[in-house]
Amino acid sequence: MNKNIPFILLLIWLVPSTLIFVSCEDNEELAEQDQDPIALADTVRFGDLTPLFENRCYQCHSEPEYSFYALNLDTYENTMLGSQHGPVVVPFEPEQSLLYTKCSGEHTGGERMPQDDMNFFDDKPEKLQLIYDWIHFGCLE
Ligand code: HEC
Repeated sequence: MNKNIPFILLLIWLVPSTLIFVSCEDNEELAEQDQDPIALADTVRFGDLTPLFENRCYQCHSEPEYSFYALNLDTYENTMLGSQHGPVVVPFEPEQSLLYTKCSGEHTGGERMPQDDMNFFDDKPEKLQLIYDWIHFGCLE
């Protein structure tokens, strides 16, 4: 009898079972990513907000133009500094952040932003969501 037969049998068993094991592992990873929004959306960075701020906010909240309530949204540092009242964001807490509530309309004082087009975010929910996500994921630079 060929001495190698047990070894060959072992190989025949080992190869498919390793493949099954590996493919199960892949599936688990995918399933985890699907369930965990952080794994998918933690890439929202300040730079992702710049086009929106530039178009809708700079005219009233930027160093070269105007700074209502001393709030400038033209750089990450200025945005984190906030207004004359203090910070406008609480990292990870969009509902506690004026930057979000003033745009969503859930604020309590003053007018909704952008002040010159207060229904702007009603037509652009994805832009409001961007502000929400940026704060929700910790205000990454
Ligand atoms: C046409 C001018 C104008 C535009 C455009 C504008 N704002 Fe304002 N913003 C103001 C004024 C005036 C105030 C202060 C009065 C008030 O709160 O209603 C203010 C206040 C704020 C405050 C509250 C500051 C505080 O401490 O109370 C936030 C936050 C804010 N704006 C964010 C934004 C964002 C974000 C945008 C762009 C999506 C924007 N604003 C666009 C004029 C503007």
